[in-house]
Amino acid sequence: MTQPADTPAARVDLVVLGGGSGGYAAALRAAELGMTVVMIEKDKVGGTCLHRGCIPTKALLHSAETVEVIKEAAQFGVNGTFESVDLPAVNKYKDKVVEGLYKGLTGLVKSRKIEVLQGTGRLTSGTSVEVALEDGSTRTVEAGHVLLATGSVPRSIPGLEIDHQRVITSDDALGMGSIPGSVVILGAGAIGCEFASVWRSFGAEVTIVEALPHLVPLEEESSSKLLERAFRKRGIKQELGARFEKVEPTDEGVRVTLEGGKTLEADLLLVAIGRGPVSKDLGYEQAGVTLNRGFVEVDAYCQTSVPTISAVGDLIPTLQLAHVGFAEGILVAERLAGLAVTPIDYDGVPRVTYSSPEVASVGLTRKVAEERGYEVVEATYDLAGNGKARILGTAGAVKVLASKDGPVIGVHMVGERVGELIAEAQLITNWEALPGEVAQLIHPHPTMSEAVGEAHLALAGKPLHSHS
Ligand code: NAI
Repeated sequence: MTQPADTPAARVDLVVLGGGSGGYAAALRAAELGMTVVMIEKDKVGGTCLHRGCIPTKALLHSAETVEVIKEAAQFGVNGTFESVDLPAVNKYKDKVVEGLYKGLTGLVKSRKIEVLQGTGRLTSGTSVEVALEDGSTRTVEAGHVLLATGSVPRSIPGLEIDHQRVITSDDALGMGSIPGSVVILGAGAIGCEFASVWRSFGAEVTIVEALPHLVPLEEESSSKLLERAFRKRGIKQELGARFEKVEPTDEGVRVTLEGGKTLEADLLLVAIGRGPVSKDLGYEQAGVTLNRGFVEVDAYCQTSVPTISAVGDLIPTLQLAHVGFAEGILVAERLAGLAVTPIDYDGVPRVTYSSPEVASVGLTRKVAEERGYEVVEATYDLAGNGKARILGTAGAVKVLASKDGPVIGVHMVGERVGELIAEAQLITNWEALPGEVAQLIHPHPTMSEAVGEAHLALAGKPLHSHS
């Protein structure tokens, strides 16, 4: 029975504020464990990942890949001519993918008997959330526990005004009706590199500006360098170690000035310098929740400074990845249900940038490993020696790091589709396998996955298709 407006709802076990990856994962798992759950969402269940992030951008990347396949067809002895990209049709395909998943998700939420309140929630105590419903009424939900999962939005820097026309964020970039002729992208993290990859395939002139010395600067340096080389070959220009100074409108688009005076002209500036937490004016601090630079502080079990309040996803200062949100949501639901839970090992989270080529990694980089006192040994297997990579025409490498006489501590890959290979590397690092143990495992021939086996064979001192 629906609750009448303006009256308190019956107390539920869990109220979830925000229906993105972290929030809905917690809601689904909590309901599965027998809890009564209300989830509050002001937009659409699925959040950034489904509607403005992971899913639509990967659909764009697949259209971009299709362009490349057609352009390179002659290399494989197939005659075909690339004509053009029909962006409205690309958007239709992308939206259809999102819509299908959205339908599936809402069905799942309904089947678990989770009540979704369409409106904007505000924390009013450690056990209650007030919701401004779409029809103008308000409703207070009382709960044994509150989960904050309000996510993140693109951030900017002082003096860099996003006008959503010429100076845009990834949200705007997903809704564009035409392909820009030229773009400057500020920031070479996952968002910057993925859009650079899409737009270049669609025919735009692309320049990436990154303040740090490398593309994807948090990755292993050798992975960054391979991506830089591949992007250069694709004609993606790079201004590395370059700091943004200002952007001004021109008749045609924008003029971006870098520190030192260099200017870049383009139709658009995409700002991709990170995402900031959504925690302002939501009653968090008033309820006693400790914030740090806007992020909600939590312990290893995602519990905030208020014992009846937890927080997950992009709102907390852990890796801003959908799969991390899922894991944190599940952890909270299971903890509340009284199950034994283990804190998340964030080093063991796989990371993938879905550009062409892809960059994937899990575990530590050499730099971080050495900072933590490891004596590191490594082996790199060049994809040039891998049969399937040759067949597909992709370049790249798999690098494995291990502690001397110890287990594998990091795997770093570059190449087409290596995002699909990182799952094995994740098992290797998280189960602390020794290089010699992995070397015993037989990989199917000819697959790209052999490159993972070959890198471990090399590290175990018995390289097969690579030089010792
Ligand atoms: P990011 O934090 O990953 O990268 C931003 C980059 O901008 C950094 O390399 C930084 O050094 C640079 N930067 C910052 N200020 C600058 C300035 N003034 N001038 C030049 N460069 C500057 O942020 P991004 O790419 O916007 O992504 C946001 C979040 O979303 C990240 O946590 C990312 O991991 C996540 N995400 C993950 C994806 C994936 O897993 N495939 C895809 C898209 C986003």
